[in-house]
Amino acid sequence: MHALPQGSTVAVIGSGAMGSGIAQVAAIAGHQVLLYDTRQDAAAQAIDSIRIACSKLVEKGRMGAVESDLACERLKAISTLAEAKDAALVVEAIVENLEAKRALFTELEGVVGDDCILATNTSSISVTAIAAPLRRPQRLVGMHFFNPVPLMALVEVISGLATDRAVADTVYATAEGWGKNPVHAKSTPGFIVNRVARPYYAEGLRLLIEQAADPATLDAVMRECGGFRMGPFELMDLIGHDVNFSVTNSVFNAYFGDPRFTPSILQQELVNAGFLGRKTGRGFYQYGEGADKPAAQTEAPQPRPHAVSLIGGEPGALAPLVDRLAAAGFALPRQEIGVAPGFLCEGAAVYLTDGRSATERARDNDHRDTVLFDLLLDAGKATRIALARADQCSDAAFHAVAGLFQAAGFAVTRLDDVPGMAVMRTVAMLANEAADAVNQGVCSARAVDTAMQKGVNYPRGPLAWADAVGLPHIVTVLANLAAAYGEDRYRVSPLLRRKLAADPAGARIHA
Ligand code: NAI
Repeated sequence: MHALPQGSTVAVIGSGAMGSGIAQVAAIAGHQVLLYDTRQDAAAQAIDSIRIACSKLVEKGRMGAVESDLACERLKAISTLAEAKDAALVVEAIVENLEAKRALFTELEGVVGDDCILATNTSSISVTAIAAPLRRPQRLVGMHFFNPVPLMALVEVISGLATDRAVADTVYATAEGWGKNPVHAKSTPGFIVNRVARPYYAEGLRLLIEQAADPATLDAVMRECGGFRMGPFELMDLIGHDVNFSVTNSVFNAYFGDPRFTPSILQQELVNAGFLGRKTGRGFYQYGEGADKPAAQTEAPQPRPHAVSLIGGEPGALAPLVDRLAAAGFALPRQEIGVAPGFLCEGAAVYLTDGRSATERARDNDHRDTVLFDLLLDAGKATRIALARADQCSDAAFHAVAGLFQAAGFAVTRLDDVPGMAVMRTVAMLANEAADAVNQGVCSARAVDTAMQKGVNYPRGPLAWADAVGLPHIVTVLANLAAAYGEDRYRVSPLLRRKLAADPAGARIHA
């Protein structure tokens, strides 16, 4: 399918944060861009801001001066919708309100030609519903950009029930031509990113409510062990708790109260208090003059342990960690104990979390000195590792395990003994939600991984990550979480179960 030709006219309606970004990107890509806003002078002011943004790009060497001048010349503010009559594509980025969007598109249908594509940048309204009153609903499609538009590569191309596939394909190809990474998705609540990302916030909030650790510690674990760019608490503070809580509520309500998406009473209290995050100077953290960020909990240095061996079956996904310990000088002889791969360190059994608490696992294995560690994105490079000790575990055994990882260069954080710990539980739930989106035909497995990497900067697509950890392990984690909490929230996606049934040892989502 072909993209809209360079030089064709794109009208952008609404010149706020999103509309001005979309106008900038379309103009740089070579389109004649018309910008319209009901607020007087807003479109012209937006064009002034785009000029400033382009000149900054020139200063930084990211764009040539001539290219910038040409792009800015292609931008024009219009004061009536009628002036958009020759547009090949109209992208709407007005207020997030169904009636306002329907009224706008109905009016536009009387202005533009029959071939003009109508696109909405809505982040939460059904594309099907916006298109419903139109004479030709098949030409309306979602073109969901991410903020800030010039920097974020993802565009979710959303098909409503009536959307013509050729229209979605043209918008996809056009977004690609604009240097973006588009993905196709069906119009379902939250589309891809705003749905699949929910567990990132929700599991963080649940871990905090269960007193696994304080926000600074959990954020450090998600960053330094999980490789996420920002931890959930600093990220929610940045987004604003009012906005984040409202998105969660809207997804929860749109799925008719599915417990997967249950909002958090802790976040509701922050909203009640007006502690909305950075913008009010206080959220989980304090901001402004003199506010210092609390440090993550880190265990005091412990002596290097002597007796360390490998236990259980083949290390599998633990191999990079085994390599790192070996590089730190541990000989790691193998002992035939149990089947789960792990380490025996001065008598303490050390395993990757499987969704049971360390306390339960110590009981199940009849081994008091049990310590679990959390998932690492890259065991070769991670700067921190999170541990949880069984309630029955002795101080000496725990300190020996801390000393083991410290000797390999990790900062060691102790989390309270919550099932599934922090990174593993979050990644398992992200993958579970991604698998459900694929299973329900919302998008492909490749699309969901691209969306989460390009739309919210995850270090790895959740499904590729689940493949790397091992689908059997991810399913075990989820099943153990479901058993621990007795909540439908942790039910395993039918797609994961099916893959596992088809190939119990080697199941993968991606071929
Ligand atoms: P904004 O409030 O910054 O800008 C909206 C602009 O639309 C304002 O300038 C307003 O005067 C204008 N406007 C309102 N009604 C209009 C109408 N009937 N005709 C013409 N102009 C009208 O809002 P923002 O953040 O740019 O969002 C716009 C749309 O993009 C919303 O649907 C929002 O949900 C969606 N979106 C927002 C994202 C964000 O992070 N801000 C991300 C992705 C989508």
